Amino acid sequence: MRGEVSVSGAKNAVLPILAATLLTDEPCLIRGVPNLRDSATMLKILRAIGKNAEFDKGVAAVSKNKHTSFIADYKLVSTMRASFCVLGPLIAKLKKAKVSLPGGCVIGIRPVDLHLKGIKALGADISIESGYVVAKTKQLKGNHMYLGGIFGSSVLATDNVMMAATLAKGKTIIESAACEPEVVDLAEFLIKMGAKIKGHGTPVIEIEGVKELHGATHTVIPDRIEAGTFMIAALITAGDITIKNVFYQHLGGVIDKLEEAGAYIIKTDHSVRVCRKTRIKPVNVTTLPYPGFPTDMQAQIMSLMSITRGISVITEKIYPDRFMHVAELNRMGARIQREGPHAIVEGIKKLSGAPVMASDLRASASLVLAGLVASDKTSIHRIYHLERGYENLEMKMQKLGARIWREKE
Ligand code: UD1
Repeated sequence: MRGEVSVSGAKNAVLPILAATLLTDEPCLIRGVPNLRDSATMLKILRAIGKNAEFDKGVAAVSKNKHTSFIADYKLVSTMRASFCVLGPLIAKLKKAKVSLPGGCVIGIRPVDLHLKGIKALGADISIESGYVVAKTKQLKGNHMYLGGIFGSSVLATDNVMMAATLAKGKTIIESAACEPEVVDLAEFLIKMGAKIKGHGTPVIEIEGVKELHGATHTVIPDRIEAGTFMIAALITAGDITIKNVFYQHLGGVIDKLEEAGAYIIKTDHSVRVCRKTRIKPVNVTTLPYPGFPTDMQAQIMSLMSITRGISVITEKIYPDRFMHVAELNRMGARIQREGPHAIVEGIKKLSGAPVMASDLRASASLVLAGLVASDKTSIHRIYHLERGYENLEMKMQKLGARIWREKE
């Protein structure tokens, strides 16, 4: 695959940013919103809660509507876990919230205990009623809290608590906060709304509560996982891709691993060119919270490793059960064995095309990458998972020379 491709706005930044618009009655304008199923779900939730939420050509306009609800319904929350981050804004702005518990998903149990611990620490009464989290407060109060769990920090729990704390009385300190660029982008948006936040991007975030927040305009950061997926597309196809609208600073853990594997990467301010001068070598990969190698790139690098000469060990430290793609890659001839949180990948010469089933968003991306270089045709079913997180993936890949198209199931 050769040529240039431009990365869309970051899904994991835009979802909490859209939720944050609930913190004000004034209009907000968000640019660089990717046209994804998940963005549409978040806009639906905002409408159900009582906002006007329009979306056109990458711009979301959110403003006050007549009615206001404090309920985020099971039907919507169960389709997308990130919907749970309306809890923080709702309890802060309306002093009450009823948000469906998201439940498990295919990559693991995914509890929300850290979200609830943080919101409780701000003084909300929380109960679980018929599958919903019901939160009430007279006034949230700032507090000092530690928000780490057994797998480290939590991105959406940090988002949720940071949003709630913007309107709490007094100062909140979140220790073991997530440092992901998407948390930083949310903090930047909240600051534009009038929030007082310091330390975002580090494990200690300080928030001084304010009485109210106002409307703001913001452009979402580029999607580092989409960028990383195209980097692997360049390497797996022995191609040469220039990826535009990228902050390479957000991709340190990925770039380091790919360079170790033999990638040739040229970084400029807003683009990254990726090709290879030698065969890709096997490397061991361990997923970690940012700035480590992201769990959202684990499935994609596994596809790359499956056709290198040698053995690589891929260790998943964020979601130890996130290995649904292993069996599907093995259907394409890959030799991957799972041992608890490790996958041992024995590289083979060539994958062979097969009908395969996408199980989740990033697993679908790994199957697309494998399909690009497999002999014969690969048909990937349940691609609605892909639509949750990749904007126009097949069109972008076609322009780079891939033979990929969409068929009706
Ligand atoms: C976010 C990302 C997701 C990414 C993940 C990890 C969004 C919309 N999604 O998900 O793409 O894969 O970060 O980088 O931003 N945990 C608890 N208790 C909690 C919350 C989390 O134990 O209350 C655990 C999780 O099960 C997991 C780890 O903490 O093992 C990290 O999860 P977390 O950072 O919360 O993931 P999300 O924010 O849901």
